Amino acid sequence: MALAFRPLHPLFAAEVSPIDLRGVANRETLEEIRAGMDRYAVLVFRDQQLEGGEQLAFAERFDGRLHAKTGAAVLGKSRLGNEALTDISNVDETGGLLSAGDRRRMYALGNRLWHTDASFEDPPGRYSMLHAKVVPPVAADTEFADMRAAYDALDEETKLRIAGLRAHHSIAYSRATLGFEFSREEQDRLPGAEHPLVRVNPRTGRRALYLASHASRIVGWPLPEGRLLLRELTEHAIRREFVYRHRWRVGDLVIWDNLATMHRGVAFDDTVHRRELRRVTTLDLPLPA
Ligand code: OGA
Ligand code: MN
Repeated sequence: MALAFRPLHPLFAAEVSPIDLRGVANRETLEEIRAGMDRYAVLVFRDQQLEGGEQLAFAERFDGRLHAKTGAAVLGKSRLGNEALTDISNVDETGGLLSAGDRRRMYALGNRLWHTDASFEDPPGRYSMLHAKVVPPVAADTEFADMRAAYDALDEETKLRIAGLRAHHSIAYSRATLGFEFSREEQDRLPGAEHPLVRVNPRTGRRALYLASHASRIVGWPLPEGRLLLRELTEHAIRREFVYRHRWRVGDLVIWDNLATMHRGVAFDDTVHRRELRRVTTLDLPLPA
């Protein structure tokens, strides 16, 4: 099936022509979507009527194994009944809005920091697929930054300086920067992971900065020096020209490449307005030949 991609931003992100992803199972169409991901890094599919099981099944058909060792799973059981189906909402198990001081809400506020999904795991997340079920009447958008364009725009000296460097990523670290603390036992389940600071897409050869608020240090560097470099690179990467802002509609499924983008939720009054989305993230494992 020939898909059409309509660009949403000068550098990246595109809306895909109408298609019902529940029915997409042939490898050819799935690889067309992957090729679209390689080019645009963020794809928007409108009007998807996916139940949780269908969203999980599509993600597995498309890209294989799913990420389930989430930070949220360490806090307690998901109301959605499957740790691979992440509850991106401000709602508790009774359907009420989370109160301001609820620990799950405070944890979820970390999504407002620029990040990539599951970079604190090894393998880290590859594609995230976020499906909108309930969207508030006020803007409650998600922003994406093109980390390939950000890499390309670095000066040659910086590219040389960062080549071969690795960063340690930890969700305990990123949450601690907001004053959210995991207990000792929770932290033991979230040890973090090391990843290269520059990633190369194996199909296109394109390089991208691999950053996140989870990045806590540069491996082998003094702590302050590594944190300064990470801060400098992040400030560069989130310049407005690299950012696409997605305004959600009910039924949107947005797929992004965590190895080519960063993202963050934009603040809205979440103690007043209900917002319910569901995310499935695949793991960055080698693809079958
Ligand atoms: C996510 C995420 C941001 C948002 O689902 O991984 O970071 O706007 N979401 O909800
Ligand atoms: Mn996220």
